[in-house]
Amino acid sequence: MQFSCLLHGGDYNPDQWLDRPDILAADIDLMKKAHINCVSVGIFAWSRLEPEEGRYDFDWLEAIITNLYQNGISTILATPSGAKPAWMSRKYPEIRRVSRDMTRDLHGKRHNHCYTSPVYREKVRQINTALAERFAHHPGVILWHLSNEYGGKCYCPLCQQAFCGWLREKYGTLDALNKAWWTDFWSHRYSSWDEIEAPVPAGEESVHGLNLDWNRFCTHQTNDFIRWEAESVKAVRPDLPVTANFMYFFDELDYYTLKDSVDVISWDAYPTWGENEESEAEVARRFAFNHDLMRSLKKQPFLLMESSPSATNWQPVSKLKRPGVHMLSSMQAIAHGSNSVQYFQWRKSRGAFEKFHGAVVDHYGGSDTRVFRDVAQVGERLEALGGLIPTCNRSQVAIVYDWENLWAVNDAKGPRNCGLKYRETVLSHYAPFWKMGINVDVIDETCDLDGYRLVILPMLYLLRDGFAEKLRRFTDQGGTVVATYWTGIVDSTDLCWLGGMPGDGLMELFGLRSEEIDALYDGQYNSIKPQQSGLFPAKDYRVSELCDLVIPSTAQTLAVYGSDFYAGRPALTVNQFGQGEAYYIAARAEDAFQEDFYGALAQKLHLDRALSCTLPEGVTAVRRSGDSFDAVTVMNFTPTPQEIRFPETAEVWETGAPVNGALSLAPYEVVVLKLAASSR
Ligand code: GLA
Ligand code: ZN
Repeated sequence: MQFSCLLHGGDYNPDQWLDRPDILAADIDLMKKAHINCVSVGIFAWSRLEPEEGRYDFDWLEAIITNLYQNGISTILATPSGAKPAWMSRKYPEIRRVSRDMTRDLHGKRHNHCYTSPVYREKVRQINTALAERFAHHPGVILWHLSNEYGGKCYCPLCQQAFCGWLREKYGTLDALNKAWWTDFWSHRYSSWDEIEAPVPAGEESVHGLNLDWNRFCTHQTNDFIRWEAESVKAVRPDLPVTANFMYFFDELDYYTLKDSVDVISWDAYPTWGENEESEAEVARRFAFNHDLMRSLKKQPFLLMESSPSATNWQPVSKLKRPGVHMLSSMQAIAHGSNSVQYFQWRKSRGAFEKFHGAVVDHYGGSDTRVFRDVAQVGERLEALGGLIPTCNRSQVAIVYDWENLWAVNDAKGPRNCGLKYRETVLSHYAPFWKMGINVDVIDETCDLDGYRLVILPMLYLLRDGFAEKLRRFTDQGGTVVATYWTGIVDSTDLCWLGGMPGDGLMELFGLRSEEIDALYDGQYNSIKPQQSGLFPAKDYRVSELCDLVIPSTAQTLAVYGSDFYAGRPALTVNQFGQGEAYYIAARAEDAFQEDFYGALAQKLHLDRALSCTLPEGVTAVRRSGDSFDAVTVMNFTPTPQEIRFPETAEVWETGAPVNGALSLAPYEVVVLKLAASSR
């Protein structure tokens, strides 16, 4: 799914300004000035679109879309289900969500409808159909924006009933369910299907299999709702694509399950630049990971659907973007595979919850503002970078980040209830690649491993059916796998593997057995001492929090623990398996260990870097590959000038100016280089 140019625009809410034709007219002039070519319309417009039940008022919307189109601006048209009108909440209480304390919401806010309610589904189907009939063939409309930021759980009787039905289908018999959930524990055996309730604080929360299935069900039910919406608009025009805007590290919904329900992946990114706790480079890495995840879902370019042109109003502190940061942040998305830079929001609302949220056009209303100029510059640059459209990032490295694993890890009691840190661990294994300028895909256990050279499994606690077999095949055929402590502990219903861990045949792959795992209190440390292997510098690394005590069978020990009763026991091992190798990192190590270890592996496996050089701290480079040219985006996430040197012949993408092996970057500068296409 490709658009003809890189999109630049954002959420546009003319429904808030219908009594101000002067402002609506000014919007068009300002959009042209800001190099805007695409806006998202109607996301929260239901009460304007259907002011009373069954009476649709679409004339204003038609005038807006047509006017935008005549001025060269496309529309991403929303279905309005993200916020329901008051008349509907009043007339049909069942559409209002029941929260975890088992009370039903009153009317208000947004994103709080029941995904199961047949009434809500019908109301949504009706308005989506009517919108599609009126606008799906409008030449200005290029994409459907389904609802907004799907998420949240509902505990109403309809949802409980649907959960029960889903469980019946999954398990067939109560006996199978009782077994899978290990319900004999604390005498929690169910004797009838209707005894099963969704996990809530006042009720059942101690059956891990139930919690895991409830999470799966909520993704399933949301997905079902998304498909319902998609089908309602596609019934009118099947070839008009749909998207749904996803979110940053959104734990609730397994986006890998949702990916096939939309034609284009899009997401909303709000980096917290300029905070105390993290450097800009660290913030950049977290967002780079999420960009990579979004691209990896379909292995295609995605859309940055929302970002703030300046500050947000919901983060603890609304810090302005420093000069250069808006360009850098926008270009970071493009570098990782986005074909758009869209904002929340075009024009600041005058009242209510988001009146102080950053916008392209301030309450002031003019174009002579710092933010407006920053935005216009991004627009100009995207026009000059249009040739990026047919390129996409390719990766030889994959990191497994799996939602079912996430749910199970976070639900486990022990070994460190003060923080198992799954997300942080995944990021600490991603960081070295970001620093080296090596592209990484973020995959889950359902993905194919073909084509990768290196697959990394940080804390892959839960093994889904068939994944271990996939790993064995991948390694046998020459792939390299790296796993950490706390991998292969439970099966897909959250039952521990019997007969030794890591389970499901992974003991054979890694050539070891995990005997027990030691958890350390905060502030306590051990160390990893590399043996002579040629892989590492002979220096000690600090480890903390989790130390797995493994017994090698066929694995070779590359490093040992430095202290405590397990001093001298293996802390890093490698096992030859068929044509490939399987590494096991037994302890949570400081970042320097990951850097040196993956640095050595990158050399050994001849992993492609965006540029063949070492990048300074806080600088990274990302490569998008095309048929004849590759684009390498070099980004300086530091407040100081930086120099890089590399052997490749390149030119600046926009100007064609030659770059002869050396590049100077101003603070926060981003440069896009054009290089001959890499051979792979
Ligand atoms: C989300 C929503 C938007 C807006 C922004 C504010 O991403 O989708 O409607 O509320 O947050 O940052
Ligand atoms: Zn419900």
